[in-house]
Amino acid sequence: MTYSTLLTALDNGILTITINRPDKMNALNKDVFTDLNNIITEIESNEAVKSVIITGAGSKAFVAGADISEFETLDKNDAIALAVRGQDIFARIENCPKPIVAAVNGFALGGGCELAMACHFRLASDNAKFGQPEVNLGLIPGYGGTQRLVHLIGKGKATELLISAQLIDANEAKQLGLVNYVTTPETLLEETRKILDIINTKAPLAIAGCIKAVNSVYNETVDGYEVEISEFGNAFATHDMKEGTTAFLEKRKPKFTGG
Ligand code: COA
Repeated sequence: MTYSTLLTALDNGILTITINRPDKMNALNKDVFTDLNNIITEIESNEAVKSVIITGAGSKAFVAGADISEFETLDKNDAIALAVRGQDIFARIENCPKPIVAAVNGFALGGGCELAMACHFRLASDNAKFGQPEVNLGLIPGYGGTQRLVHLIGKGKATELLISAQLIDANEAKQLGLVNYVTTPETLLEETRKILDIINTKAPLAIAGCIKAVNSVYNETVDGYEVEISEFGNAFATHDMKEGTTAFLEKRKPKFTGG
């Protein structure tokens, strides 16, 4: 499948998705959302894709937010529909059974910060800047930012950032737990791939079980401990669990097949 706003490269099981509107700071317009929605379907179904990196084209921005030029003609109901669509697509990223990691290579503002937060975890280059500057526009975040920022950095700091529109740099983002690692711009993708190369050697269904159980912490409609019990049980019914435990006992490396 081809995507008008995304560049894609599949290498050794890692699909790198580059949001490609560098002249507009990779802002999320309707076309980007359509492409993101379609590529998640492809990620879910393509067995060659084991894990995913999302990054931005150019050296300045990961994603500088929703495309503000599309806001001019929206009324209240249009805005609600836009937020529902954005939240649905970002929830598909968060709930994807394959790891999706944000490699934040510059500004991650508004919807860009929300996209990064929907990913399973984040690395950032040392020139990255994070923030939810919507109040500068008389707006609030609409793609899950008020919720995921609180989950990731806590209520007090999240509220400060949301209502002050202050940006934070990559090192502060790391101190707050918003990103796991800070790299140079030149090594960002390489360092992200190194982590995914390790993850890609693990059992895919066990990875999916971890993602589901972790996400259930933030889902008030389910009991996360019950999800963990259920996923633990499911793991025992997999070929990969038999392979992993047998390989350990035989003192060899496991060969996981995803079954
Ligand atoms: N939506 C639409 N266009 C955007 C955009 C956005 N969120 N962010 C940047 N752009 C466009 C600019 O309009 C400009 O387009 P132009 O060259 O046709 O005029 C281009 O991207 C470059 O941006 P510019 O502002 O000139 O770059 P800069 O280096 O001076 O500043 C930012 C970079 C990211 C600080 C600044 O663009 C910005 O504040 N963007 C908006 C961030 C925001 O409020 N996001 C939340 C949206 S809800």
